[in-house]
Amino acid sequence: MIRVQGGAKLSGVVKPAGAKNTTLPILAGVLLKEGEWVLNNFPLVQDTLVMIKLLEELGCKVKVKPAKHQAVIKVPTKLNTSVESNIFSSIRGSIFLLGTLLARESEALIPYPGGCNIGQRPIDLHIKGLEALGVKFDLASGLIHAKVEGKVAGRVYLDYPSVGATENLMLFASLISGEVTIDNAAQEPQVVDLGNFLKASGVNIYGIGTHSIKIKGTRRFNPIMFSIPSDPLEAGTFLIASAMTGGDVTVKDVNPKFLNPLLHKLSEVGAEVRMQNTTSIRVLGKSRPRAANIKTLPFPGFPTDLQPQMTSLLAIAEGVSLVVEIVFENRFQHFRELNKMGAHITVEGRQAIIRGVDKLQGAEVIASDIRGGSSLILAGLVAEGETRILDDFHIHRGYENLMGKLGNLGANITSQIANREVQADE
Ligand code: EPZ
Repeated sequence: MIRVQGGAKLSGVVKPAGAKNTTLPILAGVLLKEGEWVLNNFPLVQDTLVMIKLLEELGCKVKVKPAKHQAVIKVPTKLNTSVESNIFSSIRGSIFLLGTLLARESEALIPYPGGCNIGQRPIDLHIKGLEALGVKFDLASGLIHAKVEGKVAGRVYLDYPSVGATENLMLFASLISGEVTIDNAAQEPQVVDLGNFLKASGVNIYGIGTHSIKIKGTRRFNPIMFSIPSDPLEAGTFLIASAMTGGDVTVKDVNPKFLNPLLHKLSEVGAEVRMQNTTSIRVLGKSRPRAANIKTLPFPGFPTDLQPQMTSLLAIAEGVSLVVEIVFENRFQHFRELNKMGAHITVEGRQAIIRGVDKLQGAEVIASDIRGGSSLILAGLVAEGETRILDDFHIHRGYENLMGKLGNLGANITSQIANREVQADE
């Protein structure tokens, strides 16, 4: 459980951890070539540690050095191609093993992936794209059984610019001799990071960060040392917290390009946004935020992963805001909890009307997913009295030491192990 006392103005400098959503596909990417890979600025969060367990099941030897935020991965010449363990279905990132195993061993038998319960999370675009490149699927047994019947290079069109499907196809295409073009590809930061990682390993990739990515696969690439770029979602969470609490927070070592949609929105609600240098951004919360409308879209639109956090700011803004969640069909669960804190939010399908109130009240609330959980912490920072957040394990899946970092910025926040977990340890 997390306890937050409201009222503190956050101030100071914070460096986000490596991006979780970049680390997961890269942990699949290292499987493409045997040898020793070194990942620096490695985020120590639940999801990346689960992915490491899956790599060990496939035959890798992994050494994580927490103090150095480093993971050293020894990849064998032959990978196991079937994964039974139930932890596979606890994260979305496990799906990237599909493209990688098919590229390396031409076969995969894996469970369906998991991930935040913010929607159906289908994988039809992953399957359709891989089928277009010669993969045959047997989905009858409740598992994903796939075989490469003859790798064919060619063009794949994604009906929706799915982040995961783009990444899976990039991983699969890395070993195909011939050219694969992915049209209507995703442009999110994690896709750009994966492209840069594969390029640095020797894969010929063109169009990284555009809607059309061209990959000339090769077997001539080698294990590298790679530093995971910092997490724009963690950075954005701190900048929103600063704007909400009338604070003065600087995030460093970030790529402003990926925070651009948020920075414009923070200016619109009246926060002062300053570029301290090319990789440091400072946000000052001058006064009570003004209302603003949010529509989440694929990048470079406003990121769905910052929608929950931004709605906590809009809950105390002056005026009425309209929020439209285009990307996921069930990403408004935090509104039920915010309303318990005195917010005035009405949900109608994928749209929500937020009538700003000048004060929220501390309450006991329940986290339902990573970003929804962090939105409740932000609400607790400005609420009157104490807010207790249950099921905070969701938050620790995607944020490293969030409580410690917020505490260093002046927040009055503690995290307690729920009783049941203590009994398990006894
Ligand atoms: C990635 O999920 C992220 N996860 C999510 O972050 C993020 O919200 C999402 O991209 C969008 O930016 C990781 O990178 C591990 P999508 P992913 O495929 O790949 C539909 C977080 O909080 N779709 O772009 O699952 C899907 O239903 C997490 O860190 C299909 O219809 O996102 C959704 O409506 C939450 N068929 C939309 O596309 C498919 O085959 C976006 O999904 C795949 C997706």
